[in-house]
Amino acid sequence: MRVISLFPAALLCVVLGAAGILAGSWGAQAQQAPAPADSVHSPSSALSQNDIAKMLPATDMGASAARANNPHLPPASDSPATPFDAASIPANPLAPQADAIGAKSCVACHAQENMQASHTLHVASFRAGAANTGPQAACESCHGPGSEHAKDPTAPGLIIAFTHDAKTSPQVQAGVCLACHAGGARQHWIGSIHQNRGLSCTDCHNPMARLSPEGVLAKSSINEVCATCHQDIRAKFNRRSHMPLPEGQMACTDCHNPHGSITKPLLKTDTVNETCYTCHAEKRGPFLFEHAPVRANCLNCHDVHGSNQQTLLVAPIPMLCQQCHTMTRHPNDLQSAAGLGTGPYPDERLIGRGCLSCHSNIHGSNNPSGPKFHK
Ligand code: HEC
Ligand code: HEC
Ligand code: HEC
Ligand code: HEC
Ligand code: HEC
Ligand code: HEC
Ligand code: HEC
Ligand code: HEC
Ligand code: HEC
Ligand code: HEC
Repeated sequence: MRVISLFPAALLCVVLGAAGILAGSWGAQAQQAPAPADSVHSPSSALSQNDIAKMLPATDMGASAARANNPHLPPASDSPATPFDAASIPANPLAPQADAIGAKSCVACHAQENMQASHTLHVASFRAGAANTGPQAACESCHGPGSEHAKDPTAPGLIIAFTHDAKTSPQVQAGVCLACHAGGARQHWIGSIHQNRGLSCTDCHNPMARLSPEGVLAKSSINEVCATCHQDIRAKFNRRSHMPLPEGQMACTDCHNPHGSITKPLLKTDTVNETCYTCHAEKRGPFLFEHAPVRANCLNCHDVHGSNQQTLLVAPIPMLCQQCHTMTRHPNDLQSAAGLGTGPYPDERLIGRGCLSCHSNIHGSNNPSGPKFHK
């Protein structure tokens, strides 16, 4: 069984440590300069900007195909010096005349924000790549050109802002992020239920402070991010039977892609069962004798987010089975308290494991004498 651990990067809370982990996740074709092993542990003052730049993760931002289709990105240089050389300044439709003024000017008025943002992957890495991106990149590659805003800081809209009440429209906000992050997991963002309901990237992400070990999240973990809105679902995981999500061993994103998918409800795979098989592979079979409702949909009997019955069951046994099986060859009448082990007529369908005492291989059997799932 594959259990996805969420916090490997927590151990490496250094920005560049996390950046190193990212290297595998995006953009195989981009260059990945080898970092000298000991340099990670030496004091950062001993590192030049160039050293830092070499340790940054590979990205697909340099991929020429992606670039040719993306009007927001400048043409690729033939030999990118760092993976970050693609940072460009997005246009702000509410301030078409504005020019870039450079990070130094922003920092002069926004020292506090700058201090927090300096710990984040984006700002640290755009800065390290400044030789190629120019000093604007650190702030203005997200916030757009700042000259008009600097002249009149209290006029809303003159700088691209990312909050819900901002003058900047959600489309422009998402457009800024998607200029670098389109495709991949976000292939189906446009048209997804989250996009339709007016969420913006910053409902879940906050690139201005290092709040999570990875993923630039708005809360310290994925599950907390989802729980800000889906409190009912998160609460179900507190029931007696649940998969180990509250224990931190699973995340909502093991099964869902919050950026959109072609399967309702935002599932990562084509069907519910395929999602379950990614971890419970033994339930896939093939079985000599299949139990039809198992093959059809695991949710016939299980409530994924949590249940107060044993093993995530939607109803207690024998009622679960009796929803579909009545009037079978052996007595299958509805049970009363008289049939309990302590009652006057103890019934083996209620004692111990109920129907499962005899029909133990309920997900299917490979035993030649297992057509009734006894073996
Ligand atoms: C002259 C000082 C000054 C400079 C220079 C300046 N800002 Fe601001 N900025 C402000 C002030 C003051 C506010 C708060 C305005 C308010 O609360 O109405 C602000 C607000 C903002 C906001 C929030 C806007 C909103 O609508 O919520 C962002 C984002 C921002 N600045 C980014 C930047 C960036 C990026 C730069 C550099 C390109 C920059 N600022 C340069 C003074 C400045
Ligand atoms: C990766 C994109 C990105 C970069 C780079 C970036 N910002 Fe931001 N900034 C954001 C987002 C997103 C928000 C909204 C955060 C939130 O949800 O509150 C924001 C919010 C702000 C605000 C509004 C106050 C706040 O904290 O909510 C200010 C001011 C600001 N940024 C300044 C800066 C400055 C100065 C820099 C450069 C040091 C910078 N930003 C770099 C994306 C970025
Ligand atoms: C100029 C390009 C650029 C823009 C604009 C940009 N990013 Fe990024 N972003 C990057 C790069 C480069 C990385 C680091 C390399 C990687 O993860 O592939 C990154 C990493 C990330 C990560 C992954 C971090 C991790 O630890 O896994 C998230 C999440 C993210 N960005 C969200 C955003 C959001 C939200 C916005 C808009 C507010 C945004 N980015 C704007 C270039 C950009
Ligand atoms: C409903 C919440 C939510 C929204 C909205 C959202 N994200 Fe994410 N995003 C996440 C979570 C959670 C992760 C971490 C996924 C993981 O580690 O499996 C993530 C991961 C990422 C990553 C890094 C990993 C990767 O897939 O490459 C990037 C980049 C990213 N998001 C960009 C964006 C952009 C751009 C937008 C807006 C168009 C956006 N996200 C909107 C929740 C969200
Ligand atoms: C800012 C609030 C917000 C956050 C944060 C949020 N969601 Fe949602 N989510 C919504 C809304 C609104 C809907 C639409 C509900 C509806 O229309 O019934 C939705 C719907 C969904 C659905 C149902 C899709 C469908 O087709 O029925 C899933 C699954 C989902 N979200 C998963 C997640 C996951 C996983 C996260 C965390 C990574 C997350 N959400 C974070 C607001 C949010
Ligand atoms: C083990 C896989 C798995 C995990 C983990 C998981 N979900 Fe789901 N989720 C599903 C499946 C399967 C469905 C479809 C349920 C149905 O059709 O009745 C679903 C349905 C949903 C829905 C829409 C239908 C409903 O029941 O309201 C939302 C919203 C949702 N999940 C959010 C979340 C959130 C938030 C988390 C994390 C706290 C989470 N899920 C964790 C598999 C998972
Ligand atoms: C990301 C991996 C993962 C996915 C995907 C997944 N599970 Fe699980 N599941 C687990 C883990 C881990 C456990 C706990 C195993 C243990 O404690 O031995 C578990 C336990 C269970 C249990 C037993 C619960 C109990 O109380 O004993 C059931 C039933 C279950 N999963 C059903 C499902 C169904 C149905 C799906 C698909 C909708 C699914 N799982 C998808 C990882 C996963
Ligand atoms: C006909 C009802 C039914 C269906 C459909 C069903 N299960 Fe189960 N499942 C059960 C019962 C009953 C138990 C408890 C078995 C026990 O206690 O021996 C169980 C137990 C489990 C367990 C925990 C014990 C074990 O055997 O590992 C997992 C995991 C599980 N089911 C996964 C799945 C998956 C994945 C699917 C879909 C492929 C599925 N189930 C479909 C009835 C069902
Ligand atoms: C969602 C409906 C559903 C549920 C719930 C369900 N089953 Fe079934 N079961 C079926 C179907 C449909 C068949 C296939 C019947 C056929 O082939 O004639 C089947 C077949 C069987 C068979 C083999 C029957 C035969 O004639 O070969 C046994 C034994 C069985 N189920 C036991 C159980 C037990 C025990 C439970 C409770 C743990 C259970 N079922 C829950 C629908 C269900
Ligand atoms: C004491 C053992 C035992 C218990 C407990 C038991 N069964 Fe059976 N069941 C059997 C045997 C043996 C057969 C095979 C009968 C045959 O082939 O003639 C069978 C056959 C079946 C069949 C397929 C034949 C038919 O009649 O259609 C179903 C469905 C079934 N059982 C469901 C259940 C359900 C539901 C329960 C719980 C309410 C249950 N069983 C409890 C032993 C048991």
